[in-house]
Amino acid sequence: VFVSTETLISCLTRSGVTNVTLRSSSSSSPNYDSLLKFSLQNLRYAESNVLKPYALIIPHSKEHVVKSVQCCIQHRWEMHVRSGGHSYEGLSSTSRNPNFVIIDLMELDGVLVDMRSKTAWVESGATVGQLYSAIADKTARYGFPAGICPTIGVGGHLSGGGLSLLSRKYGLSADNVVNALLVDANGNLVDREGMGPDVFWALRGGGGGSWGVVISWKIKLVKLPPKTTVFNVPYTGRDRINNLLNRWQAVAPSVDENLYIRAFLFGGNPEVKLAFSGMFLGSLPKLLQLVNKTFPEMGLVAANCNETDWIGSMIYTAVSNGYSPELRNRFLSTKSYFKIKSDFVTNPISASGFQGVWKIMEEQSNSIMILAPLGGIMNRIPSTQLPFPHRVGYLYVIQYVLTWNERTKDAQSLSWMQKLYKYTTPYVSKSPRAAYVNYLDLDLGTTPAINGTSTLEQPNSWGYNYFAENFERLVQVKNQFDPNNIFRNAQSIPLSITST
Ligand code: FDA
Repeated sequence: VFVSTETLISCLTRSGVTNVTLRSSSSSSPNYDSLLKFSLQNLRYAESNVLKPYALIIPHSKEHVVKSVQCCIQHRWEMHVRSGGHSYEGLSSTSRNPNFVIIDLMELDGVLVDMRSKTAWVESGATVGQLYSAIADKTARYGFPAGICPTIGVGGHLSGGGLSLLSRKYGLSADNVVNALLVDANGNLVDREGMGPDVFWALRGGGGGSWGVVISWKIKLVKLPPKTTVFNVPYTGRDRINNLLNRWQAVAPSVDENLYIRAFLFGGNPEVKLAFSGMFLGSLPKLLQLVNKTFPEMGLVAANCNETDWIGSMIYTAVSNGYSPELRNRFLSTKSYFKIKSDFVTNPISASGFQGVWKIMEEQSNSIMILAPLGGIMNRIPSTQLPFPHRVGYLYVIQYVLTWNERTKDAQSLSWMQKLYKYTTPYVSKSPRAAYVNYLDLDLGTTPAINGTSTLEQPNSWGYNYFAENFERLVQVKNQFDPNNIFRNAQSIPLSITST
């Protein structure tokens, strides 16, 4: 398909969108390079062999977003919207199609908190850290259930669901969205009423990049107690870890929903290590009482804990995961090359199952397996309420994380990850093997590219991994509201389902 750069740029200029940085033909300008890499998290997608956008458009207002989308549609440019740039597979920063641009929402980061209605309008370009800080400026008694890393963008995070320390109490971020402003595939700006119930359903968890550009979200704030207590407890010793994991699988998904305990398994030699870390919605004495009753093996003592308020908990958790205590800071300095895959567990993994995991994890000192409990309110929300289907019957979600620091290690690292994923097959959910769209994984399959390089016959039943039966409704919604596949990427919702 022929696309002209001049016509796109003159359309943008005529529309008053002037904050556009072009890739220069010979070498990239320093500004282009630093803007492109600013929020891009996975260094694998910053490499020179990866396709780069022709232009970075940074709208200053919602009118600019509308105009940018209209110009791209009119002049047939593939556009990728970027909010926080945290896509595991770099989908907001690169494409399979050489002719694409990025609409980066970093300047649209406003948060308007209304304490009378206990709601807020948050622009997609805000990070979750900016959102938490804006809420905390107004109140210590309300918060919002969203991710732990403060630099995650609201736009992509809410589009894919949003799991957090508050998920067992309040569900996904997307469960707490009550309205949204979207620029759709006709270039129209619509709200919940204007887009209709199907699109409003799809954009709360059906994955970013398929439905249009969400400019802002109206969210419900959630009530929190005056005190919350966060904790982190490390363990070593194989037998001890084995017993603890066994107990954790029984307790963490079923315990009082005010208590959230994640398990971190750290790989490497001479032995793997375990840590439990989490949050309790209540005071330290109440936490110790509850843990003594339900999970005494954890050995939790006051020295492992920090009693604070909700925003204090988010700062503590951010810092203990290596992030800045300044939650408004948009730049994540600890970037790496990484591959992450996800699984959901429906039956506890046996001790012998974990033995095999350890053996593989001993090979990689930069490997981490993160086990995050579900249960609580997640069991009571119907699996068709939103695109995210993994509710009742799912005990916890796993993330297998491997980081490395240079491109030469790509092949070996990716093949190690395949080995681990293959090994865990019998221990995790099946038919289909469940995955979480915010932990995006292109190994599951890709979307046929209509105007691009791959064929239409390519199987795309991977959508069932993320969405189970909800995948079929997502495909119908896509057909109805974006039949020309204007909003597309390597794993956007396809127009039809082709299985293997
Ligand atoms: P990015 O800007 O890369 O967007 C992701 C996708 O959504 C892209 O396809 C993009 O085009 C699309 N998109 C972005 N903005 C859009 C908009 N306004 N309208 C429509 N489409 C849009 N997840 C989780 O559930 N809980 C967690 O605790 C964490 N923690 C975490 C930590 C770290 C360090 C990383 C890198 C990631 C996570 N995640 C996570 C995963 C995270 O939720 C996921 O990567 C989100 O998609 C990131 O959203 P961004 O806006 O940052 O990404």
